[in-house]
Amino acid sequence: MTASTSRHDGSPPVTTKRNDAPGGRIPGAGTILRMNLADTTAIVTGGASGMGEATARRLAEARATVVILDRDAAKGEKVASDLGGRFVQADITDPDDVSPAMAAATALAPLRTCIHCAGIGWAERTINKDGAPHSLETFAKVIEINLIGTFNVLRLAASAMSANEPDENGQRGVIVNTASVAAYDGQIGQAAYSASKGGVVALTLTAARDLSAAGIRVCTIAPGLVDTPLLAGLPDPQRAALGQSVLFPKRLGTPDEFASLATEIVRNPYLNGEVIRLDAGIRMPPK
Ligand SMILES: NC(=O)c1ccc[n+]([C@@H]2O[C@H](COP(=O)([O-])OP(=O)(O)OC[C@H]3O[C@@H](n4cnc5c(N)ncnc54)[C@H](O)[C@@H]3O)[C@@H](O)[C@H]2O)c1
Repeated sequence: MTASTSRHDGSPPVTTKRNDAPGGRIPGAGTILRMNLADTTAIVTGGASGMGEATARRLAEARATVVILDRDAAKGEKVASDLGGRFVQADITDPDDVSPAMAAATALAPLRTCIHCAGIGWAERTINKDGAPHSLETFAKVIEINLIGTFNVLRLAASAMSANEPDENGQRGVIVNTASVAAYDGQIGQAAYSASKGGVVALTLTAARDLSAAGIRVCTIAPGLVDTPLLAGLPDPQRAALGQSVLFPKRLGTPDEFASLATEIVRNPYLNGEVIRLDAGIRMPPK
């Protein structure tokens, strides 16, 4: 069978020969050297809950040895034991916590994957209704956890990965950060949060460039509204209304939809330096 596609720009049609056998495929398909996670370690920060937990489960299914880094010991231990992995209690902002976690991960197998999900939300207006200014302490705290914590994990993971042997793609590792659509469409009360996530977006290409010589890729996912414990505190009608505000499909995202994309970024060697919105087309209104 021959398929022809005419082009609108006047260039000649593209002709693709197809294999007529059932399950036949377009020539060239199936030639991606996807990253093999067996006999490697994946560290997942924030892996005790929400999107981090879902990603840890997907990576374990893909046969990576998973190390959960989280400050929540009870939930982190439980996820790690479910997955036959390891838990390390750590605060992402503290180098003295994160360095031993990287060492623990590399002791198990080469650390080739770092998924950074740990982060916090925050709501506070630049000035409140009485004109009082945003607390500088809370602004700095959100930047410290969401932005400085991201860079702390990224730099220490990259340093550990740089000692790996390159794989068949010449790659030593991959790092996936988590931003938010608030980096682009920050809502009222999100000054600190959107600034912190905007920093993660801006860091992505620079870090990918810095780490290219070491064969380490860096991408970021910017989720929209995802049904995790972060949103579980809201009453059901409010969560349902949030779902209705999404373009299509009209619902909240699931942690596993994030995990699926994170795993694809890890396995697809051609994704690098990019921030991907995972938001079903939502553009957040001012409030
Ligand atoms: N849920 C959403 O709708 C949504 C949307 C956009 C972006 N995000 C971002 O996605 C990421 C994951 O969010 P989630 O919804 O899965 O949240 P979650 O609260 O379910 O999980 C976050 C995890 O991070 C851990 N954590 C927080 N601060 C930490 C620190 N300093 N050190 C170590 N661990 C720490 C928590 O203990 C928790 O286990 C966050 O960065 C969040 O800002 C979430």
